[in-house]
Amino acid sequence: METVFDQQCAVHIGEGCLRAADEIPIRRQGRTCVLVCERHAAPLILPPLMENCPRLSKLPLYYLDASEPGKQIETLLPLWHEWARDGLDRHTSVILVGGGVLCDMGGFAASVYKRGIPFYAIPTTLLAMADASVGGKTAVDLGEIKNILGNFHRSEAVWIDPVFLKTLPRNEFLSGAAEILKMQFIGNPGLSFAELEKCLDPGTFPLSLLHFAIAEKARITGIDFYEENIRKTLNFGHTFGHAFEALALKQNRPIAHGQAVAHGMVCELYLSCLLAGCPKHLFVQTARLINRHYGIFRYGKEDIPELLGYMLNDKKNRNGQIFPVLLQDAGKSLYTESVGTDPLLQTLNTYPFNTDLD
Ligand SMILES: NC(=O)c1ccc[n+]([C@@H]2O[C@H](COP(=O)([O-])OP(=O)(O)OC[C@H]3O[C@@H](n4cnc5c(N)ncnc54)[C@H](O)[C@@H]3O)[C@@H](O)[C@H]2O)c1
Repeated sequence: METVFDQQCAVHIGEGCLRAADEIPIRRQGRTCVLVCERHAAPLILPPLMENCPRLSKLPLYYLDASEPGKQIETLLPLWHEWARDGLDRHTSVILVGGGVLCDMGGFAASVYKRGIPFYAIPTTLLAMADASVGGKTAVDLGEIKNILGNFHRSEAVWIDPVFLKTLPRNEFLSGAAEILKMQFIGNPGLSFAELEKCLDPGTFPLSLLHFAIAEKARITGIDFYEENIRKTLNFGHTFGHAFEALALKQNRPIAHGQAVAHGMVCELYLSCLLAGCPKHLFVQTARLINRHYGIFRYGKEDIPELLGYMLNDKKNRNGQIFPVLLQDAGKSLYTESVGTDPLLQTLNTYPFNTDLD
């Protein structure tokens, strides 16, 4: 087991590290703990949890319908009612067990209940391990607008154990792998496409890339918790990605968050070639890799105004201007340049891209 620190939050990573979660101080100095588990995945994620953490298995257990379409404030009301009914007080800690939606929603629920109670995270999807469980961002959506209601509320500790990946469906694996790829693009000047290729196959998945993603996220959020500067780089792929995700949800064909980010990264690399001098081969190799593993995101010309509308409504905008993350090269990102609508429209109109090198 390795441990990295996101400020005071210890993030434990490695096979078997889940056993250490059983040592959470569940009853000490007036403190108590409860579990909140994602309802649909519960039959898959509770058995490994209970097997590795017999003490936690005795705690009061709440279920949350934490699914992407239900990532709305209304879904949290029954949970808050149950917590109030059961007398959870400000000395109660919540242990969250589930994917990224559960981590975002459960963290948000904890952040406002009695003006904030502590929580721990045990992420069970690759995406939640690589990204959502670290860095203290909590959120729910408002209708189709992603993560627009939220808070910064860091967890007390996180346990990232690949035991949960055994039951993860392939599309969810790919969704998480996209965020790991993202970290390579923004944080590794020496990235290797051979390693990225391995990362997209559960059989060859290199745990070292998961470690890198977590350590890099913890380092960045440790420097800039409130996303005033360098943390913005973590949004690479998300300006387009969130728009794709919102459109797909609105059209009743939801796609996983990371899959949307994968397509978003290709678009933002194209934009980076147009505006930031990104080498064309980085864009082309990435587009080929993503096309091979994720296919393309389909939309019609008539959807383009709506996609642009989602980008114009992005919470990262300032004074109505859009700030996508651009790459000058692998490991060299720009996040302070606003981009006008023309290059965004050019990108949307050109997608899916020709991936010939000349
Ligand atoms: N807070 C952050 O910093 C941050 C960062 C990235 C993403 N996010 C958020 O994370 C969310 C996406 O998270 P996600 O991709 O984990 O989605 P998710 O939580 O919806 O989980 C995906 C699916 O996997 C199932 N599942 C969970 N664990 C499983 C397991 N071990 N085996 C089998 N199935 C399992 C779930 O039931 C669900 O159907 C988005 O809402 C996104 O906004 C937040």
